[in-house]
Amino acid sequence: MPSLQKEIDQLRRQKKAVILSHTYQPPEIQDIADIVGDSYGLSLQATKVEADLIVFCGVSFMAETAAILNPRRRVLLPDASAGCPMAEMITASQLRDLKSQHPGAAVVCYVNSTAEVKAESSICCTSSNAVKIVESIPPEQPIIFVPDRYLGRFVERRTNRQLIVWDGFCPTHAMLEIDTVLGMKRQYPEAELMVHPECMPEVQDAADHVLSTGQMCELVKTTECRRFLVGTEEGIIYTLRQIAPHIDYISLSPQLVCPNMKKTTLAKVLHSLQTGEPRVTVPTEVADRARQAITAMLEVTEGRSFK
Ligand code: 13P
Ligand code: SF4
Repeated sequence: MPSLQKEIDQLRRQKKAVILSHTYQPPEIQDIADIVGDSYGLSLQATKVEADLIVFCGVSFMAETAAILNPRRRVLLPDASAGCPMAEMITASQLRDLKSQHPGAAVVCYVNSTAEVKAESSICCTSSNAVKIVESIPPEQPIIFVPDRYLGRFVERRTNRQLIVWDGFCPTHAMLEIDTVLGMKRQYPEAELMVHPECMPEVQDAADHVLSTGQMCELVKTTECRRFLVGTEEGIIYTLRQIAPHIDYISLSPQLVCPNMKKTTLAKVLHSLQTGEPRVTVPTEVADRARQAITAMLEVTEGRSFK
């Protein structure tokens, strides 16, 4: 094992740390992680952690979620500047204004949001359970959905319900244009096309599968298909190859790179383990309210209590 990895491994044991990695992280980070998963899977894992220290290799909203679920544990984000631009597209005060225009509406908030926005929400969702979460809300109750307009449109179509959708989007997934997709489909006619619901609606319409990253990982375990065109952040191709190496995966575009997800390096993970920094904290008053929205999501999805 090369020396950086060895040092990380020794310190992880010494400090009783667990390293969580999103599937968009660079391969060397996924390799040293104890658990690699999608936003939902990692939130669920965060409820089960017994380690003293959580090193979250991902972006800030994911580390915040882990900190909210583990108020007594230290949660580290190896690069403090790794944010999610979509999460910054709505503030708590903008959401409060929207709520005042729609009294009585439930607020469904994509986990790609700040802790302050979660604290203003009724329930969270991820891309893997957004349909189920919306379906859990009484049909007569209006629903505000923030911040992703494309995931919101996807849920509208799947549930046949009209939502009050905020105008946010993921700058990485929004770069994938329909002409690029159609060109790739022509080049690889035998391949199946899987895309993330953060892609634009016309891209979703052209796809065989619209899936969260976790659902993509499940699909390749059982499919007969031997070649996929992949319409999400390219880091997942490494994950998919670990799960089903006999399948050929082709990224739809070299633009499908989330710069924030690529900020994590082995040197930064080691530095975090050595120093216990950068720590992610959420003020108690915000965390207590945000936790209710996150546990409501876990309860609807898992069908059991998280109190
Ligand atoms: P998942 O919910 O599929 O993990 O996606 C998170 C994300 O940031 C997508 O851009
Ligand atoms: Fe945010 Fe998009 Fe990066 Fe996901 S891929 S973390 S939504 S900017």
